[in-house]
Amino acid sequence: MFENSDLNLTMDKERKLIIAGNWKMNKTVAEALDLVNGIKRDLGNVKELDIVVCPPFTALGEVSKAILKSNIRLGAQNMSEHNFGAYTGEIAAGMLKEFSVRYVILGHSERRQYQKESDALVAKKALAAHGASLKPIVCVGETLGEREAGKTEKVLETQVRDSLAGLNKEQMGETIIAYEPVWAIGTGTTATAAQAQETHSFIHFLLGKIFDESVARRVRIQYGGSVKPSNARELMSLPDVDGALVGGASLEERSFADIVKNSI
Ligand code: PGA
Repeated sequence: MFENSDLNLTMDKERKLIIAGNWKMNKTVAEALDLVNGIKRDLGNVKELDIVVCPPFTALGEVSKAILKSNIRLGAQNMSEHNFGAYTGEIAAGMLKEFSVRYVILGHSERRQYQKESDALVAKKALAAHGASLKPIVCVGETLGEREAGKTEKVLETQVRDSLAGLNKEQMGETIIAYEPVWAIGTGTTATAAQAQETHSFIHFLLGKIFDESVARRVRIQYGGSVKPSNARELMSLPDVDGALVGGASLEERSFADIVKNSI
């Protein structure tokens, strides 16, 4: 599908895998604690890859305490592009930092769809995240209609360029991209290994074009969309796939732990 992949990032796999659980609008504080304590028990000794949990805002405080001094890191699911002020209902990066949040998911397709978040807004949020030393996980991905119309490459190029606009090379190197084909999210349909590899390789290529090759070599690209224990091993072994953003299967201790273990 993609023509000019002259930037070959598939030679090595020097990037550490990062597997994040996106709990979306699920889990009370008590349920969140149950889950994260289970994850800690199961995965407390894993050093080979980065493990992140992204609970809803209301559980960040308690989950943060539960994973203190562990190998599990904390992420949020969204944040404001503003640092403070009259923005009712919004949460600023600095507020997330109070709970030792390290990562923040930005521009998830559900927010693009339901809250009409644009690439330009996502870019502002990514800059605000870096301003507070949070690592953004910027989500991109095409719809089924776009893929079938042969527009995947074009759609991704626009999303990658515009959602990361204004980041300098240093900031880009500390940014994570999540490639989540919209048709694979919560549907049980996963991209094939060939589709995932081809698309991730294209995104690494794009980063080389927009920033430079050394930046592209640093940026980790997670795959998201119906990742489960049975497909994690194959997906995570692909040269340009550097981790996973897991929705449904991250809500249960066993399946999340198995995804991580199968990825090592
Ligand atoms: P899913 O969700 O694993 O349930 O498909 C992934 C996501 O939305 O990040």
